[in-house]
Order: sequence, then structure tokens, then C-alpha cells
Amino acid sequence: MKHLRDMNHTDLHHTLLANNAEWSARMRKENPELFTELAKHQNPFFLWIGCSDSRVPPNQITGTMPGDMFIHRNIANVVVHTDMNLMSVLDYGVNVLRIDHVIVCGHYGCGGVKAAMGPEFGGPASSWVSHIRDVKRIHDTELAVITDEEKRFDRLVELNVAEQVYALSRTAVIREAWEQGRKIHVHGWVYGLSDGLIKDLKVTRTRYELEIGGVDLR
Ligand code: CO
Repeated sequence: MKHLRDMNHTDLHHTLLANNAEWSARMRKENPELFTELAKHQNPFFLWIGCSDSRVPPNQITGTMPGDMFIHRNIANVVVHTDMNLMSVLDYGVNVLRIDHVIVCGHYGCGGVKAAMGPEFGGPASSWVSHIRDVKRIHDTELAVITDEEKRFDRLVELNVAEQVYALSRTAVIREAWEQGRKIHVHGWVYGLSDGLIKDLKVTRTRYELEIGGVDLR
């Protein structure tokens, strides 16, 4: 099969439609009930919050099927409490779809995280990245002693995921669900572009950690 980069510019989108027709036929042959069932309802097991990066497609890298995952993606998988888009996905995923496993998945080599290590560049993407500049500032002491730039970058990718897991644990949706006795797990993972493997950062949160005197007991 020809790669997309070798295609005529005007034919590119036709390729997607042709691929889709083939895929649909193959899926119906392998599992005749699949689309009939999916058309009736969705009952996903996971809520995935990941990066928009084209190299990190959630279903493909986890071997999941249509219907398995409710998905939200943005640049550098950031959880912002005033982001109505993400908060609506979270609310619907947790309270309507009754999902118990929320996964924040970052990835090494993330352009959004890399941008936060450099100077301001203007425009909306620069404002978005400022959330990761905050993560960098919070963990400045740890990051400053990492002399190798690649390793410092990798570590900021991991810390960004951990901070977004923490941010999720503080949302009204997750806290209220925990208060109601729901066993919701918020996981933090990092995907490796160079080997296709996901690493569990072991920062899973299953309950709200108390704060005393404004100091986070992290
Ligand atoms: Co990224």
C-alpha cells in the first residue's frame, strides 16, 4: 500500500475514505454484531486524557476497540480546571458513562512539554503551554540538578503527567465521586515514541489527599 506521503495532494482524503470502506467491511466480516451493538449504546471502560500528537493514537497503542475508550486529547495532556471541554468530558465520562478508570497518558518527546522548556513564542499555543511552565516551576529544584537536557525533558514529561493526575484528583467531579464511595482510579502513564511502550508512573490516585494549612501533603 502506498504511504500517504507519496500520494497526490488532491487524492489524500480519498485514500482515507477508501481505507474506511475496507475497514468497515473487514470489521463486519470479523464481528457481524459489532456495529449493531455500538449503534445502540456506548459502555466504555476507560477515560483517556492524552496528547493530540499524531504518534500517540490511544486505541491503536492499547489494542482497544471502538466503544472501549472515551477520549479527550489536547496539547501535552493538560488538565485545566476552567477548561469546559475537558470538564464536560470528565463529567459525562464519570457521571453518565460511569467510568471508573481515568488515564492521563503523556509521551516522551512531547512538543508541548519541550516548548515549556524554551522561551515564550506567542499565540494561543504559548498560553496553553504556560500551564506546563507552572509544572516546571513547581519542580524546579528536582529538575535543576538534572544536567543532561534529554533526561531533564523526559523527567518534565513524567512530572507533567503526575501533576495532571493530581489536578484531576482535585476536580469536583472526581472528588464528589470518591465522596459517594465510587472506586475511581486515576492513573498516570507515559508512552515511549521510540519503542511504542507505555510505562506506568505509579502515581495512581484512588482518594482525595487532605490538605492541611494550605500545604499539599504530596
Ligand atoms: Co505531546
